[in-house]
Amino acid sequence: MSADIVLTGITTTGTPHLGNYVGAIRPTVAASHDTSVQSFYFLADYHSLVKNQDPERLRQSSLEVAASWLALGLDTDQAVFYRQSDIPEIPELTWILSSVTAKGLMNRAHAYKAAVAENDEAGDRDPDKGITMALFGYPVLMTADILMFNATKVPVGKDQKQHVEMARDIAQRFNHIYGDMFTLPEAVVDDNTAVLSGLDGRKMSKSYNNAIPLFAPSKKLRKLIMKIKTNSLEPGEPKDTEASTVFDIYRAIATSEETAAMQQKFADGIGWGDAKQELFEYLDAHLSGPRDEYDRLIANPGHVESVLKAGGQRAREIAGPFMQKLRAAVGIGPLG
Ligand code: TRP
Repeated sequence: MSADIVLTGITTTGTPHLGNYVGAIRPTVAASHDTSVQSFYFLADYHSLVKNQDPERLRQSSLEVAASWLALGLDTDQAVFYRQSDIPEIPELTWILSSVTAKGLMNRAHAYKAAVAENDEAGDRDPDKGITMALFGYPVLMTADILMFNATKVPVGKDQKQHVEMARDIAQRFNHIYGDMFTLPEAVVDDNTAVLSGLDGRKMSKSYNNAIPLFAPSKKLRKLIMKIKTNSLEPGEPKDTEASTVFDIYRAIATSEETAAMQQKFADGIGWGDAKQELFEYLDAHLSGPRDEYDRLIANPGHVESVLKAGGQRAREIAGPFMQKLRAAVGIGPLG
């Protein structure tokens, strides 16, 4: 069996937060050093257009996501690191795949169904109100991302698993019509990857406005941590680590011994103020090195750009010739 091809993307919709770090950035950085696989990591900037129609914010987010990955030590010699929009073969493949994708399959996508349900609840006569073709076709673009490089393993959060399954369906359909061109990908959903809770206790997410930016300056970081919602137990009263955001974030970053020690402090009744201060100090120390590097990269977008361009070139060395084969397979191309 040949080596696995691991591929994943991050949508460039905002400033990376601690939830993105533990859920996506940290595991991919670790995997980028694994020499037994070939990995592809990219900025899904076309995907971000679905939600983000503010050009300046899109550009800024692309820079921030790329700088975060690099600052945390992504191995760009091993992994192919690129920006989706630098690979014109991807939108081209999206169209070809759209031509073999059943509309009914897309009707079943969770994100689309949720948008329709929302219109329904709001009592709108048009169930598709405000829904763009890009939102509807989102899984096809994601399928093109995956199939372009014949990825075998696609690490994603639970919410994206359905999209990878759709990519399998679409690949199968294409292979059935045109012959075996695509490898069937598999989603890798790591149940151990922490889903962090945010300031208000709900899942940390840009859309809930409860996120702690990964590289917030020290002062801001401390201020945000002090805002984390807790219960009203007094110092000296034993505290439950379950459902505590302070503990949740600490555990996601600390070693298991440190986590066990913190658990003891909770049992011993550490005050919330002290627990937050400890969390702040730990995070601040853990992130200060990468944060310095991040700040340097943000101040030097030309460097980030050159890294992305080089990665894009490597990606196109694969995508270009493969696209030629795909075009020939479907009957598009030179006549003589
Ligand atoms: N849709 C994914 C998300 O929002 C990001 C993404 C785009 C992706 N293309 C991908 C992930 C291909 C894995 C593979 O999380």
